[in-house]
Amino acid sequence: MNKHSIFLVLSAMIAAVTVGSQSLAQRGDADSASANAPPTARSGDADGAFVSASKFSEPDGEKLYKRVCAGCHMPDAKGATGAGTYPALARNRKLAAAGYPAYVVLHGLNGMPPVGQMMTDQQVADVINYVRTHFGNTYKDAVTAADVKSTR
Ligand code: HEC
Repeated sequence: MNKHSIFLVLSAMIAAVTVGSQSLAQRGDADSASANAPPTARSGDADGAFVSASKFSEPDGEKLYKRVCAGCHMPDAKGATGAGTYPALARNRKLAAAGYPAYVVLHGLNGMPPVGQMMTDQQVADVINYVRTHFGNTYKDAVTAADVKSTR
Protein backbone atom coordinates (compact mmCIF):
# COMPACT_ATOMS: atom_id res chain seq x y z
CA MET A 1 0.00 0.00 0.00
CA ASN A 2 1.51 3.37 -0.90
CA LYS A 3 1.36 6.48 1.23
CA HIS A 4 -1.55 7.91 -0.67
CA SER A 5 -3.79 4.91 -0.22
CA ILE A 6 -2.93 4.67 3.47
CA PHE A 7 -4.05 8.26 3.80
CA LEU A 8 -7.30 7.45 2.02
CA VAL A 9 -7.95 4.48 4.31
CA LEU A 10 -7.23 6.56 7.40
CA SER A 11 -9.50 9.34 6.19
CA ALA A 12 -12.27 6.86 5.55
CA MET A 13 -11.91 5.40 9.03
CA ILE A 14 -11.90 8.79 10.69
CA ALA A 15 -14.93 9.84 8.66
CA ALA A 16 -16.74 6.67 9.68
CA VAL A 17 -16.16 7.41 13.34
CA THR A 18 -16.93 11.09 13.07
CA VAL A 19 -20.37 10.48 11.61
CA GLY A 20 -21.15 8.64 14.78
CA SER A 21 -20.80 5.03 13.74
CA GLN A 22 -20.22 3.07 16.93
CA SER A 23 -19.66 -0.48 15.84
CA LEU A 24 -16.94 -2.24 17.81
CA ALA A 25 -15.00 -3.10 14.71
CA GLN A 26 -14.85 0.45 13.51
CA ARG A 27 -14.00 1.63 16.93
CA GLY A 28 -11.00 -0.66 16.94
CA ASP A 29 -9.89 0.61 13.59
CA ALA A 30 -10.22 4.18 14.67
CA ASP A 31 -7.94 3.49 17.59
CA SER A 32 -5.23 1.98 15.47
CA ALA A 33 -5.41 5.04 13.30
CA SER A 34 -5.34 7.32 16.29
CA ALA A 35 -1.83 8.58 15.69
CA ASN A 36 -3.19 10.73 12.91
CA ALA A 37 -6.74 11.19 14.08
CA PRO A 38 -7.82 14.62 15.28
CA PRO A 39 -9.10 14.60 18.87
CA THR A 40 -12.67 15.14 17.70
CA ALA A 41 -12.66 11.74 16.02
CA ARG A 42 -12.10 10.08 19.36
CA SER A 43 -14.09 12.08 21.83
CA GLY A 44 -17.51 11.25 23.04
CA ASP A 45 -18.39 8.45 20.66
CA ALA A 46 -17.73 4.77 21.00
CA ASP A 47 -15.03 5.24 23.62
CA GLY A 48 -17.42 6.91 26.01
CA ALA A 49 -20.19 4.46 25.24
CA PHE A 50 -17.97 1.56 26.08
CA VAL A 51 -16.65 2.86 29.33
CA SER A 52 -19.80 4.42 30.68
CA ALA A 53 -22.08 1.46 29.94
CA SER A 54 -23.08 -0.55 32.96
CA LYS A 55 -21.14 -3.66 33.88
CA PHE A 56 -21.64 -6.90 32.05
CA SER A 57 -23.94 -9.27 33.87
CA GLU A 58 -22.85 -12.55 32.28
CA PRO A 59 -22.12 -14.99 35.07
CA ASP A 60 -19.39 -17.18 33.61
CA GLY A 61 -16.38 -17.15 31.32
CA GLU A 62 -18.07 -18.81 28.39
CA LYS A 63 -21.00 -16.40 28.35
CA LEU A 64 -18.67 -13.46 28.80
CA TYR A 65 -16.56 -14.65 25.90
CA LYS A 66 -19.59 -14.90 23.65
CA ARG A 67 -20.99 -11.57 24.71
CA VAL A 68 -17.83 -9.50 24.86
CA CYS A 69 -14.94 -11.06 22.96
CA ALA A 70 -16.48 -13.11 20.17
CA GLY A 71 -17.62 -10.07 18.22
CA CYS A 72 -14.01 -9.23 17.46
CA HIS A 73 -12.07 -12.44 18.04
CA MET A 74 -14.85 -14.56 16.50
CA PRO A 75 -16.88 -17.32 18.17
CA ASP A 76 -14.19 -19.89 17.36
CA ALA A 77 -11.47 -17.50 18.63
CA LYS A 78 -9.61 -17.77 15.38
CA GLY A 79 -9.63 -14.04 14.86
CA ALA A 80 -10.36 -12.18 11.66
CA THR A 81 -8.84 -9.87 9.15
CA GLY A 82 -11.02 -7.42 7.32
CA ALA A 83 -11.60 -3.83 8.24
CA GLY A 84 -9.13 -4.49 11.05
CA THR A 85 -6.98 -7.31 12.35
CA TYR A 86 -8.26 -9.31 15.27
CA PRO A 87 -5.69 -11.83 16.42
CA ALA A 88 -6.60 -15.43 17.03
CA LEU A 89 -6.86 -16.38 20.68
CA ALA A 90 -7.08 -20.03 19.66
CA ARG A 91 -3.76 -21.82 20.14
CA ASN A 92 -2.16 -18.56 21.13
CA ARG A 93 1.13 -19.02 22.94
CA LYS A 94 1.04 -15.50 24.26
CA LEU A 95 -1.68 -16.69 26.64
CA ALA A 96 0.83 -18.92 28.45
CA ALA A 97 1.66 -16.14 30.88
CA ALA A 98 -1.71 -15.38 32.48
CA GLY A 99 -0.67 -11.84 33.27
CA TYR A 100 -0.59 -10.93 29.59
CA PRO A 101 -4.27 -11.51 28.72
CA ALA A 102 -5.22 -10.03 32.08
CA TYR A 103 -3.32 -6.88 31.25
CA VAL A 104 -4.78 -6.65 27.73
CA VAL A 105 -8.38 -7.17 28.90
CA LEU A 106 -7.99 -4.58 31.66
CA HIS A 107 -6.00 -1.96 29.84
CA GLY A 108 -6.73 -2.59 26.18
CA LEU A 109 -4.14 -2.77 23.42
CA ASN A 110 -4.21 -0.51 20.37
CA GLY A 111 -7.50 -1.43 18.69
CA MET A 112 -8.72 -3.49 21.60
CA PRO A 113 -10.79 -1.52 24.11
CA PRO A 114 -10.26 -2.08 27.86
CA VAL A 115 -13.38 -4.21 28.21
CA GLY A 116 -12.26 -5.44 31.62
CA GLN A 117 -13.13 -2.01 33.00
CA MET A 118 -16.75 -3.09 32.72
CA MET A 119 -16.23 -6.38 34.52
CA THR A 120 -15.67 -7.40 38.09
CA ASP A 121 -12.29 -8.91 39.00
CA GLN A 122 -13.97 -12.30 39.07
CA GLN A 123 -15.48 -11.86 35.60
CA VAL A 124 -12.11 -10.89 34.13
CA ALA A 125 -10.57 -13.97 35.76
CA ASP A 126 -13.41 -16.16 34.49
CA VAL A 127 -13.22 -15.04 30.89
CA ILE A 128 -9.44 -15.33 30.83
CA ASN A 129 -9.56 -18.77 32.41
CA TYR A 130 -12.13 -19.78 29.84
CA VAL A 131 -10.02 -18.64 26.89
CA ARG A 132 -6.85 -20.17 28.37
CA THR A 133 -8.50 -23.59 28.66
CA HIS A 134 -10.50 -23.63 25.40
CA PHE A 135 -9.88 -23.17 21.67
CA GLY A 136 -6.82 -25.43 21.78
CA ASN A 137 -5.29 -23.61 24.76
CA THR A 138 -4.48 -25.84 27.72
CA TYR A 139 -3.08 -23.51 30.37
CA LYS A 140 -4.30 -24.91 33.66
CA ASP A 141 -2.93 -22.35 36.11
CA ALA A 142 -6.10 -20.41 36.80
CA VAL A 143 -6.10 -16.65 37.25
CA THR A 144 -7.77 -15.48 40.46
CA ALA A 145 -9.79 -12.37 41.16
CA ALA A 146 -6.90 -11.25 43.38
CA ASP A 147 -4.48 -11.54 40.44
CA VAL A 148 -6.81 -9.40 38.37
CA LYS A 149 -7.16 -6.84 41.13
CA SER A 150 -3.42 -6.37 41.29
CA THR A 151 -3.28 -5.90 37.50
CA ARG A 152 -5.99 -3.21 37.39
C1 HEC B 1 -13.48 -4.26 19.80
C2 HEC B 1 -12.86 -5.50 19.42
C3 HEC B 1 -12.30 -6.38 20.52
C4 HEC B 1 -12.94 -6.91 21.61
C5 HEC B 1 -14.38 -6.70 22.04
C6 HEC B 1 -11.97 -7.74 22.28
N1 HEC B 1 -10.78 -7.69 21.62
FE1 HEC B 1 -9.08 -8.61 22.17
N2 HEC B 1 -8.07 -7.68 20.68
C7 HEC B 1 -8.63 -6.87 19.72
C8 HEC B 1 -7.60 -6.40 18.83
C9 HEC B 1 -7.80 -5.48 17.64
C10 HEC B 1 -6.38 -6.94 19.30
C11 HEC B 1 -5.00 -6.73 18.72
C12 HEC B 1 -4.33 -5.56 19.41
C13 HEC B 1 -2.93 -5.37 18.90
O1 HEC B 1 -2.12 -6.31 18.98
O2 HEC B 1 -2.64 -4.28 18.41
C14 HEC B 1 -6.73 -7.74 20.47
C15 HEC B 1 -5.80 -8.45 21.20
C16 HEC B 1 -6.13 -9.30 22.24
C17 HEC B 1 -5.16 -10.10 22.95
C18 HEC B 1 -3.67 -10.16 22.67
C19 HEC B 1 -3.45 -11.25 21.63
C20 HEC B 1 -2.03 -11.37 21.18
O3 HEC B 1 -1.75 -12.34 20.45
O4 HEC B 1 -1.19 -10.54 21.54
C21 HEC B 1 -5.84 -10.82 23.89
C22 HEC B 1 -5.28 -11.81 24.88
C23 HEC B 1 -7.24 -10.45 23.76
N3 HEC B 1 -7.36 -9.51 22.75
C24 HEC B 1 -8.25 -10.98 24.53
C25 HEC B 1 -9.57 -10.53 24.49
C26 HEC B 1 -10.59 -11.02 25.36
C27 HEC B 1 -10.42 -12.12 26.39
C28 HEC B 1 -11.72 -10.31 25.07
C29 HEC B 1 -13.05 -10.37 25.74
C30 HEC B 1 -13.04 -10.19 27.20
C31 HEC B 1 -11.39 -9.39 23.98
N4 HEC B 1 -10.07 -9.57 23.65
C32 HEC B 1 -12.25 -8.49 23.39
C33 HEC B 1 -9.96 -6.54 19.62
C34 HEC B 1 -10.93 -6.86 20.54
